[in-house]
Order: sequence, then C-alpha cells, then structure tokens
Amino acid sequence: MIEYDPFSDAVMRDPWPYYAQLRREAPVFYHEKYDAWFLSKFEDIRACTTNDVFTAERGVTPEMVLLKAPPPPDPVFSMLDLPRQRDYRRMFVPRYTKNAVAALEPAIRAKTRARLRPLAERGRFDVYRDLADPVATEVIAELCGLPADEAFAMRAQIARYFGRQPGQIGTTPENEAARLAIVTRLAEIVVARMESGDHAGDDHLSVMLRTPAEGAPLSIGSMVATLYTWLVTGVEVVPLSVANTILQLARHPDQRRSLVADPSLIPFAYDESLRYDQPTNLLGRFVKEPALIRGAKLEPGQGVMFLWASGNRDEEEFARADEFDITRRPPRSLSFGHGAHKCIGEHLGRLEGRILLEEILALAPEFAVDEAGVRRTYGEFLHGHHVMPIEFTPRSL
Ligand code: HEM
Repeated sequence: MIEYDPFSDAVMRDPWPYYAQLRREAPVFYHEKYDAWFLSKFEDIRACTTNDVFTAERGVTPEMVLLKAPPPPDPVFSMLDLPRQRDYRRMFVPRYTKNAVAALEPAIRAKTRARLRPLAERGRFDVYRDLADPVATEVIAELCGLPADEAFAMRAQIARYFGRQPGQIGTTPENEAARLAIVTRLAEIVVARMESGDHAGDDHLSVMLRTPAEGAPLSIGSMVATLYTWLVTGVEVVPLSVANTILQLARHPDQRRSLVADPSLIPFAYDESLRYDQPTNLLGRFVKEPALIRGAKLEPGQGVMFLWASGNRDEEEFARADEFDITRRPPRSLSFGHGAHKCIGEHLGRLEGRILLEEILALAPEFAVDEAGVRRTYGEFLHGHHVMPIEFTPRSL
C-alpha cells in the first residue's frame, strides 16, 4: 500500500523511503486526491520534460499542480510552453552562458571573502545564514538590478512565504501575505524605473524594460512575476545545496580530505550533493494530450509531478544511489531539469557553489559540523538544510 502524499508530515521530514517504494512498486503513481500522477523514475521524468503533451502554462509548483492555485496571470518564462517561452527566456540567456557567468567569479569571490573575514575569527558560523544565503542574495540582486537592501528585505519575505507548519497543506494567509508584500514592492520598483526612463543597463529589469516579447512591450505584471522568479530561484537553491554539501563532507571525512588535497575536485562534490539531496524536490506540469507511460493512461487536465529528487536516487541510473560519493562522474543527472525549462541558472549555481565551498575549505579544512544545531527545511517543495553551524580553529583573514 502506497501512502505517499507530498504534503504529509512524514514525507516532508523524510521523503527517501517513500521515493524508494514508489520507484519499486508504483513508478507512475496516481493520487486521486490531487487528480495527479507522480513520476519517480529517472528515465520517465527525463522523457516527460521534453514531451509537448504536457504544459507548464497552468503552473509548475506543487501548489499550482496539486492544489490548483492559479499561475501568475501575466507571462513568465518558467510557466510558458514553446514557442511562446522563447521570447521571454532568451532575453536573459546572454547573462547566463558559461562564459558570461565566469566573468562574475572575481566579484562573487570578493563578496564571499568579505563575509568570511569577520567570521574567521569567531571559529564558528552558520554556513547557510552567515555566508551562502547573503552572498547568493547580493549576486541575484545585482543581476536583477535591485538595490541590495530591497533584495534582503524580499529575501526575508521569501523565507516567510516558504515557511510551513506540521499539518499545513499549501500556503496559509500568512505565507500569501509575504508573497504579496514582495510583488507589491517589486511593482513599485518596476513603475519607478519605467518613469525614470533608466533602462540602458544590462540588469534584468533594464533588459525587460527595453525588450519586446511576442511583438509587444512586457506588461508590468510580467516583469514583476519574472523578477519574483529570479529572486526565489536565485536565493534559495544554492545556499541549501552548499549547506547539504558541507554536511555530507563532515559525515565523510575521507571525501573532505580529498577535496582539501585537491580543490579541483570541488565541482564534482557539489554536483554529487545536488544529485544526492536535490533542493528542487519536485515540480510539475498539466497533461495537455492523452499520454501513455508504462501502461498508465494520463488524461488531459490531470496534473503530473516530476519527483526530481527521486529520479536522482534511481538505482537504475546511479549505482549505489543512496551513497554520497564524490568520485562519481555520471553522464546524466536531473539536478538542473531537462528540456525547454532546463535551469537557466545552472552555470551561475555551479559557480557560486564552487566558490563558496572553495573558500570555506580554504579557511577551515578541518571543520566540524555541530549536528545538534543542524536544521532541515520543512515543506513540500524546497529541500535541504537551512541551518548548518560549523566549528573550526579561529584565524584572521
Ligand atoms: C545550483 C542549484 C540549482 C538547481 C538544483 C536548480 C534546479 C532547477 C530545475 C530542476 C529547474 C527545472 C524546472 C522545471 O523544469 O520546471 C530549474 C529551472 C530554473 N532555474 Fe534553476 N537550479 C539551480 C540554480 C539556479 C540559480 C542560481 C538560478 C538563478 C539565478 C536559477 C534559475 C532558474 C530559473 C529561472 C528556472 C526556470 C527556467 C525555465 O523555466 O525556462 N536556478 N532549476
């Protein structure tokens, strides 16, 4: 009997036994309560992300696909299908190519070192809250063209938006109030920039203000929804996954020592951490045309969820999938998704992850994690660790 429900307390606390059971017993699992299918096998998820029988236009988050919350009314590229998605996404692509992102390395390293300097003398800090989260927030603020203080205030509201209590299914009025506060402030900022005529820069807001999509200027709603998407994706996943990597390295001291001896292995360790504990736990689509997967008939209008984190633990794709092993060199993964919606922030995420880990290990090669203080996220969507205290011999930098 399958008792999987992404909103249940047990699944939020520990999804892995449920994912293993789904892959084994019901890889295409139908949940009547949500009129939605859950795909847990690597190959099925990968194939479905490129299949145009599914649509992103009715929403992609668990809240939208399972609880039928409406998607934003104005176009945002993460919730558009091809060919419409193309115009809205491609205006940002030049900032996110491997080369363009590589040029950000000195600035991101400087931000990281500036945060680390006062922490180094303490001999103890929280990798998530004191370091990775503020660095990621500053980086995405600059890319978006938002003042840092505004971005930090919005970042605090994003945390309120994602906060969940046991037994809570979907968002509460408090969560929604936090989201509303962000979009209201973003709308004010967008209008002020429109009125000032200041849109010559290469920040995301300037680019949106001067680039038409589908033959027309972007609406204010579209710019606000897109900035919101950049903020959420930019601040959440890298800090969670850097904290996850630190925890795994503390639990596998031999692997930590390999990285200290040869820092060129750090990118592999970060990738392994994204595979092992994927921060974007699950996202979905709606069925547009009838589809057949492993004999299951998916009907138009039904939801379909991609259990990314489960696909990345699929034993048919990864030998010893439940083991954290930085010597893996897997030819494929689902960490950044696949198909038209494949993560546009992949190179930036990898760069931030590498720099943060390089700098932590350079400062504190023998760090220990205070496991009693570690906290895991609690919610249906974002997974990982948002409190990760480490201890080390104090130094001055
Ligand atoms: C390093 C950790 C990261 C992971 C594991 C990750 C994961 C993902 C995944 C799985 C998707 C596919 C969503 C779907 O198919 O519905 C995605 C899309 C996306 N990611 Fe990332 N991401 C990361 C970093 C970032 C960063 C740093 C940014 C922003 C700067 C970002 C921005 C986005 C955006 C905007 C999309 C939507 C793309 C589209 O729909 O066309 N991601 N990400």
